[in-house]
Amino acid sequence: MTTAKLILNGQEYEFPVMVGSEHEVAIDFTKLRAQTGAIAYDPGYGNTGSCESEITFIDGEAGILRYRGYPIEQLAEKSSFVEVCYLLVYNKLPTAAELAAFEQKLTYHTLLHEDMKKFFESFPGTAHPMAIMSATAISLSAYYPEFLDPEIIDLNIVRLLAKFKTIAAYAYKRSIGQAYIYPRNDLSYTEDFLHMMFAVRTEPYEVPEVLSRALDLLLILHADHEQNCSASTVRMVGSSQANLFASVAAGVSALWGPLHGGANQAVIEMLEKIHADGGDYKKYMNMAKDRDSGFRLMGFGHRVYKNFDPRAQILKKAADDVLGALGVSDPLLEIAKNLEEIALNDSYFVERKLYPNVDFYSGIIYRAMGIPTDMFTVMFALGRLPGWIAQWKEMRNDPATRINRPRQIYTGATERDYLPVDQR
Ligand code: CMC
Repeated sequence: MTTAKLILNGQEYEFPVMVGSEHEVAIDFTKLRAQTGAIAYDPGYGNTGSCESEITFIDGEAGILRYRGYPIEQLAEKSSFVEVCYLLVYNKLPTAAELAAFEQKLTYHTLLHEDMKKFFESFPGTAHPMAIMSATAISLSAYYPEFLDPEIIDLNIVRLLAKFKTIAAYAYKRSIGQAYIYPRNDLSYTEDFLHMMFAVRTEPYEVPEVLSRALDLLLILHADHEQNCSASTVRMVGSSQANLFASVAAGVSALWGPLHGGANQAVIEMLEKIHADGGDYKKYMNMAKDRDSGFRLMGFGHRVYKNFDPRAQILKKAADDVLGALGVSDPLLEIAKNLEEIALNDSYFVERKLYPNVDFYSGIIYRAMGIPTDMFTVMFALGRLPGWIAQWKEMRNDPATRINRPRQIYTGATERDYLPVDQR
């Protein structure tokens, strides 16, 4: 199969067919409009491949997720988040020497310019940390201007990976009115983040290993997810040749919405509501099935996964392990498991292929770790950062990249004459 035929108004057109390395088939419509005068209509882009990519493979029917060919289950069990960052950004697993050098770089670029502390203070204490994350991420471009020199771009990639966690921790400290805790060079990536979050200046603080291990796992599972809403946003903004920081800041904004990364916060708020309402989860299941109720079961459903989300399966088990290790018993975990069990056997959910997604159990783990609810989406952003960077870099280096500029089908008024205000 090398071409596809389209008949429009009785005339036949031929288009090339592309096949990916995992046998995904696409019709190349690059010349569709030039040849036929028509455009493709695909709201939500569910059938549209916007690029060729070597980064992440998902088979939504089989529940497969691989970064650069490596199954998520293996990476979750055996690698570290920093190793996954390297893999995504540089397209190879690092050797021991490469990993050590990379860890060293990520350690030595964690400090924020002292002036940037004023940014945090200029936000109201009630500001959502995602607003602070997005604003501060783009502000980095004021401190580290980007030139077309690939070495500077590479340095800015390292800077962003290193400083993002400092920004996240400072946003949290700002929200609770505590003094910022400076990064420590003797700690690993996840330990350092937890130390900046939870240490206070007056007390020594040792990061519990169970927390840093759980965080590594959570960040690995969120690290990339091919052309999702925020990654596509990063690519779209970057396609105008906007700099890395500006492109990633746009990705942070896209992630914030409750249908995307904001779902982890929405899941916990939903579970808390069910708990406060006496734990009657069946009532909420019925509401989720009733279109008119306007209620959706948050943490359920996915555009791509239609059987199970492998990340949710790993996290369901991790929730039991982490809560057990921390000695936490959370009634919300029980409510979540009950909801899942009913949904897996309910025809509404089965027919629509709605299963728990990554956000369903992640919030319960973050909660047990002591991370407040409005920081959950920031945690997602921290994990997704290497994915955004890898997508941005690939887009930048791809000769096929053109400025992203979709078309539309205009359905508004046809031409009409302007009337002065007293004649309308
Ligand atoms: N609860 C109840 N019904 C649902 C849900 C849900 N969570 N999700 C989808 N449906 C129904 C929907 O009403 C529709 O029914 P019908 O065919 O009768 O109109 C059908 O299932 C298909 O839904 P859709 O909205 O057309 O599917 P989509 O691919 O456009 O949306 C989604 C995918 C993830 C936005 C959606 O499932 C959803 O809103 N889920 C809740 C929010 C959530 O958990 N988001 C996190 C996604 S995973 C992490 C990430 O990538 O950010």
